[in-house]
Amino acid sequence: MPTVTIDGREVEVEVGTNLIEAAKKVGIQIPHYCYHPRLSIVGQCRMCLVKIEGPPKLQTACTTQVMKDGMVVHIDIPEVHKAQEGVMEFLLINHPLDCPICDQAGECGLQDYSFKHGQAFSRFVFEEKRTYPGRERIPLGPSVVLNMNRCIQCTRCIRFTEEISGTGELGFFERGARTEIGVFPGKELDNPLSANVVDICPVGALTSREFRFAERVWYLDKKPSICTGCDVGCNVTAEHRRGAIKRYKPRFNPEVNDYWMCDYGRGTFRRYEELERLGTPAIAENGEQRPATWNDAIDRVHQSISQAPESAELAFLGTGFLTTEEAFLIARLADAAASPHRGVASEEGPTRTIPNLHGGISGSETSPNRRGAELAGLVAGDGGLGAAELMQGDGASRCDFLLVADGDPGSPLHDSEVVARLRQARLLVVMGWASTPLTEVADVVLPTATHAEKDGTFVNCESRLQRFRAAFPSPAGVRPAVEALADLLGRLHPDWRGLSTAQVFDRMAADLPTLAGLTFEELPAHGVELQAPAAVVGGGTPPAEDAHP
Ligand code: SF4
Ligand code: SF4
Ligand code: FES
Repeated sequence: MPTVTIDGREVEVEVGTNLIEAAKKVGIQIPHYCYHPRLSIVGQCRMCLVKIEGPPKLQTACTTQVMKDGMVVHIDIPEVHKAQEGVMEFLLINHPLDCPICDQAGECGLQDYSFKHGQAFSRFVFEEKRTYPGRERIPLGPSVVLNMNRCIQCTRCIRFTEEISGTGELGFFERGARTEIGVFPGKELDNPLSANVVDICPVGALTSREFRFAERVWYLDKKPSICTGCDVGCNVTAEHRRGAIKRYKPRFNPEVNDYWMCDYGRGTFRRYEELERLGTPAIAENGEQRPATWNDAIDRVHQSISQAPESAELAFLGTGFLTTEEAFLIARLADAAASPHRGVASEEGPTRTIPNLHGGISGSETSPNRRGAELAGLVAGDGGLGAAELMQGDGASRCDFLLVADGDPGSPLHDSEVVARLRQARLLVVMGWASTPLTEVADVVLPTATHAEKDGTFVNCESRLQRFRAAFPSPAGVRPAVEALADLLGRLHPDWRGLSTAQVFDRMAADLPTLAGLTFEELPAHGVELQAPAAVVGGGTPPAEDAHP
């Protein structure tokens, strides 16, 4: 591999690596607008000019590849700083500078580079700015709004629709200084990946119809999470203000979603706003639910399990919304009750495909973790009732006790016929975060954390195990399901009492050959591809921090 020297630092790179990527390897960010690691290279914005020893003029780093040993590059020198200031000055000639009312403020490539690489004055203060009257808020499609006055003509959005979504709705129209972005006549920017252009637009020209004016970005706390919209398991950043999620943005994982996510997934947090939240446990007496303490509710469930006669039938039904750790605890509960009746409710939905370097990834289940829940042991034993018998057959009518968790509203448990079948169990216990038709008819209701309020792991459609963290704590009265289940199991076997999610995972890894050698805290940033028992492939190092990939 050839070696290149960048600002005095030597780095070995693959033949053909461009200078922006080579510099990243030694922690140097070369400013750029039109370059994006997954789009074709156009060398258009001129922001990435660098000095290469040899050629008389500055060269664009994005279009320059390292082909052999000995290239010497200078970035932190007056000649390059002057060029960067000049490019910024040109870009700002026509920019409206409406940062106070622009949604991109706080995460804008123009703002950031103005501070880092711009200058404090412009020689064009007396010129009239070029504007695009009437094109300040043009809906391009269901997810994206264009403000043409802010566009710096980098063409990232056009290349995205040509090269990533493959839909080609966007193009340049007019010429020279009047050049503008637009959709072709009779078309809309309407494809399953369309909102990604908002993320890659380096300025506030493209904004999200969903997020526009919802929140100033500097008020948002950001936590790594996993989308629950399907079993692809896109890595996302959950951005919230005081426990209210305001948006999901894709988080780079080259093994799964690369830099992207689908428009459907972006909206999945809305159900946390739209549905009524369960706030306190409840126990039904004479057919009427009354609020109860956690202790009483767990006691009630514990007694039903521990005092069940040997002939009693106890069943445990999870959903694909459970974390792997929650499912593992429920499977241990079923073991404690010596019950073969267990299963995972999940259903097929539309196929969602995310492009990546491995040819793309497609998922078609409506929940994120059916595989993880089954791996953890929620599979019917010999002669046991599984999810199909409980939900579509008369299996529940045989049950003296039925625990259903996580009753996420996105699961197939809320169809009125399914509810009526499950209700046939003599005692129905439901864990979940929202009030649903099933919680309304339950004998015991246990209000548990949403996916944004808990730690855990999911196993996606390609058997990749991925960890996520709670973005914020649960409201008072609500407990993460792992905590509630460990409390319940702890009353049957004291050594389960008080276990955290990480401890449950580590116990599960000790039990399941497929997870051998893994620990929760040391799971790789890009997840682990689970293979045959005891063979674990995976990994990846955390991506370098890059505000403008
Ligand atoms: S709208 Fe944004 S991404 Fe598209 S060309 Fe303009 S600045 Fe670039
Ligand atoms: S493909 Fe699935 S996991 Fe990815 S963003 Fe869309 S719904 Fe979420
Ligand atoms: S010209 Fe290199 S990033 Fe735009």
